[in-house]
Amino acid sequence: MCGIVGYIGQKKAYPILIKGLKRLEYRGYDSAGVALISDNNELNVYKAKGKVSDLQAHCQDKDVSGSAGIAHTRWATHGEPSSTNAHPHYSASGRLALIHNGIIENYATLKEKLIERGIEFRSVTDSEVLVQLIDYVQQSNSLSLLEAVQVALRQVIGAYAIAILDRDHPDTIICARQSSPLVVGLGADGDFFLASDASPIAEYTDKVVYLNDGDIAVMQLGKELQVVNLDNVEQHPKVKQIDVTLGQLEKGGYPYFMLKEIFEQPKCLRDCTRGRINVDHDRITLSAVIDYRDRLISARRIIIVACGTSWHAGLIGKMLIESLCRIPVEVEYASEFRYREPVIYPDDVVIAISQSGETADTLAAIEQARSAGAFVFGVCNAIGASIPRQTTTGVYIHVGPEIGVASTKAFTGQVTVLSMLALAIANEKRTIPGDVYKDMVAELTRIPDKMEQALKTNEQIERLAPIFTYAKNSLYLGRGYNYPVALEGALKLKEISYIHAEGYPAAEMKHGPIALIDSEMPVFVIATRDKLYEKVISNIQEVRARGGRVIALVTEGDEQIRKLADHVIELPDTMECFQPLIASIPLQLLAYHIAVCKGKDVDRPRNLAKSVTVE
Ligand code: F6R
Repeated sequence: MCGIVGYIGQKKAYPILIKGLKRLEYRGYDSAGVALISDNNELNVYKAKGKVSDLQAHCQDKDVSGSAGIAHTRWATHGEPSSTNAHPHYSASGRLALIHNGIIENYATLKEKLIERGIEFRSVTDSEVLVQLIDYVQQSNSLSLLEAVQVALRQVIGAYAIAILDRDHPDTIICARQSSPLVVGLGADGDFFLASDASPIAEYTDKVVYLNDGDIAVMQLGKELQVVNLDNVEQHPKVKQIDVTLGQLEKGGYPYFMLKEIFEQPKCLRDCTRGRINVDHDRITLSAVIDYRDRLISARRIIIVACGTSWHAGLIGKMLIESLCRIPVEVEYASEFRYREPVIYPDDVVIAISQSGETADTLAAIEQARSAGAFVFGVCNAIGASIPRQTTTGVYIHVGPEIGVASTKAFTGQVTVLSMLALAIANEKRTIPGDVYKDMVAELTRIPDKMEQALKTNEQIERLAPIFTYAKNSLYLGRGYNYPVALEGALKLKEISYIHAEGYPAAEMKHGPIALIDSEMPVFVIATRDKLYEKVISNIQEVRARGGRVIALVTEGDEQIRKLADHVIELPDTMECFQPLIASIPLQLLAYHIAVCKGKDVDRPRNLAKSVTVE
């Protein structure tokens, strides 16, 4: 989704802004732009459709001087991708420039009123209305820029993170947040950085302020950061330390972030469990479970809300919690849950899962659960994001920034946290015997080593991938814990290679999808040795009988399926409930290599955004 960068200080703004935009490319975008107050105090706005490199080419012969500027990557919502619709937008007077993330719901009414008063609009975006409104309010009431922003935003309904540059006050940038994230970086020389997430700021400072909803921040050179609300009441946000390192934001020798992140998974899982599984590998300590023990163990029901890959992790969480803790669990798409008047009891526990912590639908589902009095627990990756701040408690997955649009390490991190959570609650509830608990905790600590072994299938998968580039459709089958793995494998393939893929419970195939099977159809079956193994073999036979091509993920040493399948990929054995942590790796690699063979931009798939901050 859209990305925001800003800088004001003693350094040249343009290179900082361009570098920042590049750091935000992973979020997905279709156009980019920059506004600078030049050394001659002119407001220069440059925009281009396409990549940040197109914007750079456009700026090559332009005046990019100045030490104050704002920049933006746009992911179109209102209005097609074009340089006119790209941000920054500037006011009719040419005095103010503004960038915006989010959606202004009442923009049409506001725009109509401004047009009646003679304001001419250039773009068809909802965002332009903000800059025109602020300028109009300021000029017609002789207000300061801060006062004008406060008056204007009181009229606005919707979600926004905005930053405004004023040609007449080149020493100041004003920004504001409502339901869309914004981070201010405090530089060592009194300079200020601004961004929609911490990644563009990390190389300049580790001191940041995460703005809260309703906050307006004034970054004025030579002064401390001032934060007020719409009613001008002073706010006192905490200065926090970013935990993102520069290395985490670079590709580290890999051709794509996605591949780097797939290979990082063993390390990520060690980071995720560090300090939570004790050194003897027999006990899990999660502070959220200690602090809220009674609330968690007395839950009548757990509702998991999430979107996309995080929803798939939620399906695995359901199986873990139901079998280990004996608490009924429902897993809901946040986007459906929020609109269908769900029954929520005050003694329900709602678990919201999100990598970014900013997904608009998941945030709305949390709000709904909170207002019904439920206890809301977050499972999130991005530190300080909106979801961890709006939940009562939770557990970070600690896998580091995920830049590749297709989620990989966040998925296995989420499943690991849900495994630890289920085990910790089960131990408190005494719903599993002590020796089973210990065995399971010990096995969880062995998963990173087994992941390393699973990653050794990379070369085999790279060799197999070209065979499947022809495919228009594909099927992923699994049962039990491997059913969500099938869904996740199919999602990975479709989002980066644009091959239609469906994930199905293997036994359900004969109730419909079996009609699709022919010799053109690759069928990926997760057939590791578990209690449904024999049944999955029957499902493989059904596919073969219709001429389908079977690629099976099997437990190492499996000779039975080798005789049936066209290709087998061997994986280390583990407990059934942890199999998703291993089996998802070859499916991630498969999607990656097929997409590379098809010449696709793996890290920036078309139409997709990393962080879906609009509904
Ligand atoms: C798929 C993917 C998306 C996200 C979904 C939710 O690879 O990344 O399906 O899982 O948009 O995002 P978060 O987890 O940030 O709430």
